[in-house]
Amino acid sequence: MVLFGGRSGEHAISCATAGGVLRALDPQRYDVLAVGITPTGRWVLADPDPERWAITEGRLPQVEDTASHVLLPQAVDDRDVQVLEPGELPRALGNVDVVFPLLHGPFGEDGTLQGMLELADVRYVGAGVLASAVGMDKHMMKLVLAGHGLPVGPFVVLAPGEFDRDPAAATAKVESLGLPLFVKPARAGSSLGISRVEDLADLPAAIQAAAQHDPKIVVEAGIVGREIECGVLGGHDGDRARASLPGEIIVTDARHDFYDFEAKYLDEAGVELVCPADLPDDVVAKVQDVAVRSFEAVGCEGLARVDVFVTPDGEVVVNEINTMPGFTPFSMYPRMWQASGLEYPELVDELVRLALH
Ligand code: DAL
Ligand code: MG
Repeated sequence: MVLFGGRSGEHAISCATAGGVLRALDPQRYDVLAVGITPTGRWVLADPDPERWAITEGRLPQVEDTASHVLLPQAVDDRDVQVLEPGELPRALGNVDVVFPLLHGPFGEDGTLQGMLELADVRYVGAGVLASAVGMDKHMMKLVLAGHGLPVGPFVVLAPGEFDRDPAAATAKVESLGLPLFVKPARAGSSLGISRVEDLADLPAAIQAAAQHDPKIVVEAGIVGREIECGVLGGHDGDRARASLPGEIIVTDARHDFYDFEAKYLDEAGVELVCPADLPDDVVAKVQDVAVRSFEAVGCEGLARVDVFVTPDGEVVVNEINTMPGFTPFSMYPRMWQASGLEYPELVDELVRLALH
């Protein structure tokens, strides 16, 4: 089951990712069931045609509620079930061998779906419950990474409502980080709700924008450095995960003051993905080491993309880990594996194999 869409702000990106995977799955090997989750959370049988899910000319794809063919939770509700035996949920899911949960953001990449699949005793690609939850929450992620001795940048957390209760105290807390700042919702992705703040006068608006995605807010000190990403793959049954060659994000259009949603998905001309990144061998090794250790610290399985900064003196600072990174054939994660000798269809096969292992 290729599962995509979902209730998060990254719905359309998930659809685009699914399009790439649907194209790559060999019909001779796989009997693919495409299932979309609508923005309101209904599970529907979806068009398996990859073209339907591409982001074309700025149009963002969306799973439509077809009303018929609704799977969960209606499949369970309809039968007046009093007690769910462990085998019930998989039957409601249609007896699938493995789910490829190509979901980004809350209700998909955050452990909630993974928990449901665990209860249903269905195998799935990627990180489990805890790693998904930790990877989604930038606050917990930083605590876990720092707790494992990994380098994270300076940050401050504003609890839900903290800024509104006492703006002056919250501003003073944030001020110690210097400028510029990055204000982020704790649990979101694709840069949704993120602002770069160069003047504290802009802080309230930035907090308001972030709070639209999550009441908990993480404020980070801006780090001077190159934006480098590294793919990690494997990590099942005690085998150590391996790292790809790193890639680099270069924002070329000054209209984007950072690698924001537009630059990521809508303005291909405004950003350059350099893969592999032009880095000295020792820095590549350091990035790969930090990436694999971050993957292990969070307890990931299958795949993750670790985003770091490489400072002018060659130090590596972890920005974040993504347990279900963007996965269209043009996304950084598959491109880094391609540069490392693993083509997109082989990468998809490997992920399914790891999940079934
Ligand atoms: N959250 C987006 C999809 C990424 O990490 O690539
Ligand atoms: Mg992320």
